[in-house]
Amino acid sequence: MALILPCVAVTTLYDDRRYLTNFDSWLTGHVFTDVLVIGSGSAGARAAIEAGDHTDNVVLVCKGPAGESTTRYAQGGVANARSAQDSSDKHIDDTLRVGCGLCRPRAVDVLVGDATRRIEELIAWGMHFDRDGEELALTREGGHSVSRVMHAEGDATGLELARVLCDRVRQHERIRIFEDCFLIDLITNEGRCVGAITYSSVYGHQLIWARQTVLASGGAGRIYRETSNPALATGDGYAAAYRAGSRLADIEMVQFHPTTLYVAGAARALISEAVRGEGALLVDRDGTRFMDAYHPDAELAPRDVVSRAIFAHMRDTQTNCVFLDAGGFGAEKFAKRFPGITKMCKDFQIDVGRELIPVRPAAHYMVGGVVTDIDGTTNIEGLLCCGEVACTGVHGANRLASNSLLEGLVFGAIAGRTAVTLAKQSPEEQSHGSISSVNPKSQRTELDLQDIRNSLRSLMWRNAGIERTGDRLAESREIIEFWGHYVLDKTFDDVPGWETQNMLSLSRLVVTAAREREQSIGVHSRVDVDAADSPAPLHHITVQRGDDGLQLGRLGLDFES
Ligand code: SIN
Repeated sequence: MALILPCVAVTTLYDDRRYLTNFDSWLTGHVFTDVLVIGSGSAGARAAIEAGDHTDNVVLVCKGPAGESTTRYAQGGVANARSAQDSSDKHIDDTLRVGCGLCRPRAVDVLVGDATRRIEELIAWGMHFDRDGEELALTREGGHSVSRVMHAEGDATGLELARVLCDRVRQHERIRIFEDCFLIDLITNEGRCVGAITYSSVYGHQLIWARQTVLASGGAGRIYRETSNPALATGDGYAAAYRAGSRLADIEMVQFHPTTLYVAGAARALISEAVRGEGALLVDRDGTRFMDAYHPDAELAPRDVVSRAIFAHMRDTQTNCVFLDAGGFGAEKFAKRFPGITKMCKDFQIDVGRELIPVRPAAHYMVGGVVTDIDGTTNIEGLLCCGEVACTGVHGANRLASNSLLEGLVFGAIAGRTAVTLAKQSPEEQSHGSISSVNPKSQRTELDLQDIRNSLRSLMWRNAGIERTGDRLAESREIIEFWGHYVLDKTFDDVPGWETQNMLSLSRLVVTAAREREQSIGVHSRVDVDAADSPAPLHHITVQRGDDGLQLGRLGLDFES
């Protein structure tokens, strides 16, 4: 094994801190692998399976128990054109239309082109999709021109998908799984990603040296006060990729799901768009429908339109929520089709067949992320990316409902396969090296981390939410940087500390890019910019850590420079 030049990061400035933790490769436990996959949602699990099928040694790192991810909480389903009324062309058209012209057409072609293959494979692996008689049952969701959303156990598609993928991962002899293992940072040496430094309560700090690393760490809804995302969605992958020098794009594009259960004091929880797809109506506290005033497709308009309409209607009527009226179903039918939602509502004493369901929008999905090519590669050699943390350009400015599980499956398989091909070309010695990080001791006072997290999430909700203005975004960046001076110059030794640092780093990127995009498009609504005055050409905004700190840039529609 040849030793490569030592690389020591000694940093002082806020945006220069390369690693969140102190470590020395001579003193830290080591693991070696061909392919390291970070994240066990649909994209990570699928990437690991693909890699394990083609190389001997794959490591899968999961922040929580394997399979605990946003995938698990997905209700609606997986989009796949398979009825006589449907076609791949229609699926592509819907994806492009809902993406408001910002989609990368090549990525959309791949997503839709590989869909049936990935779905058939899941069925062969034991996934039980719901059926109408012999045929697979298909439902409709916002933005789809026909019914094409496949689902499982009514409203537990993500849970069933996570079960199938995790069973397969666990049974795979070539995949080693590290559960409850936190990604602290991606390790780079001379600009090349050579693995990651992780922490788990069982193994402590570990250096996982990998010929190729696939980042599939999922989303970041938790940077918002109101979100459908589980607790682990704190954006660790985006922040680690940024520190490592990755280029991120469309990071200002945050999708808000129109309907999460609103019970004051309780965390928001998803009420699937499929509920509207199957006929439920949105009404206000007077029982009056309002969506047809906002869009001809009313309740089934694209997600960004419905979220904005609800937000505006709540403001106009000075209320905290609107309601889903599912009375047309009958209690029994609703409970059969949506058993999980029925139970969740029952826990709050809401009888869905007979009573209205209080709902309001919440942060749901990060449309942007680490810029990846169609094969999953990024601007950093040795680092690939897939799933929600990636930006293939497939979603444009607004993701079409139920395209995200599909994206995880399609681009997870692609990234896993590419990683193996590249790992076989990587010289072994490039995976090893002498690397250390020494952060200076903070001279600044301690802040209450929980208080910072809560304040940050409220700030993001107020100022970088469904409606945005340039002034408020600029002010938010100042506030976040102020907090950052106190929190990002500390060296923590626990997950809550690292998570808070990541949440601050990512939020700063979101508000900076959102300030930069002076137009309203898709999920990004700049209410201070008159639509008629801003016929800005379509481009992707990028953020990247440069020598002088955060650098903003632009890419063309197909990610050309
Ligand atoms: C839902 O069931 O409404 C969520 C589906 C998705 O986010 O694609």
